[in-house]
Amino acid sequence: MTGPIRVCLGRATMSLVEILILPTAVAAEHLAARLVADRIIAKPDLVLGCATGKTMEGIYDRLVEFHQSEQLDFSGVRTFNLDEYVGLAPTDKRSYHYYMHQRLFARVNLREGNTHLPNGAAEDLMAEAHEYERLIKEAGGIDVQLLGLGATGHIGFNEPLSALMSRTRQKALTETTRRQNAAMFGGDADAVPPRALTMGVGTILEAREILMVVTGRHKAAILAKAMEGPVTSMVSATALQLHPHCVVIVDEAAAEQLEGREYYRWEFLNEPEWEPYR
Ligand code: GLP
Repeated sequence: MTGPIRVCLGRATMSLVEILILPTAVAAEHLAARLVADRIIAKPDLVLGCATGKTMEGIYDRLVEFHQSEQLDFSGVRTFNLDEYVGLAPTDKRSYHYYMHQRLFARVNLREGNTHLPNGAAEDLMAEAHEYERLIKEAGGIDVQLLGLGATGHIGFNEPLSALMSRTRQKALTETTRRQNAAMFGGDADAVPPRALTMGVGTILEAREILMVVTGRHKAAILAKAMEGPVTSMVSATALQLHPHCVVIVDEAAAEQLEGREYYRWEFLNEPEWEPYR
């Protein structure tokens, strides 16, 4: 059981990857949103790395609820999204710009000038990628990066063989990913743009804290590979094992194939740092 041993050693020295198993997807999303909210309360000008996809929808809904019910204040928060499809204008309803506007930006008091996504419609995509990296640096780096997990084990759109030190750049999408994301394109995988601009694995690893959320039985095998398998550029999420402060929040269904799941359950129920969140 390499997972629990690795985590134990990590705890003795510094915090490394921690996997928190929650009973349901709703509970996992709620905990992720609560952690983000608490980071914003502690640092009102937080630099938040945003992700997209179905898993994030519930998290953004909870954040909107916190904004309404407890006046969670986004006015100082700055955001940087992971990725965008190449060729889609920000106004395109299938773009991640549109998704973020609908799901979060327009529903809380985020200032428009404080939100950032790579522009997939830029004429010079390489210049756009460099500029995106520069803007992240200028903001002081990302404090908390939200992540989902793709079917290929990608984080952002870092498909298999993405260098572990890669930076924001164009990446060709696999057929698996285009099928996974077809729902936003009327169910037609061929309509999903073949390329995306994405933060690199190296860019993501520079975030001071990472919160990955993975739910559903269909993610169980790739989650086990990502968390307990060997670090490899074939599964970019394995790079998270190298990060000094990465919290992975999963539901029971996604946890099904984790070798160390009993230990991870114990950890969430017993570690004092998680006491306020149980
Ligand atoms: C997409 C995005 C990722 C996202 C992942 C999971 O391809 N580029 O950032 O995290 O897929 O998506 P879902 O939550 O819909 O399973």
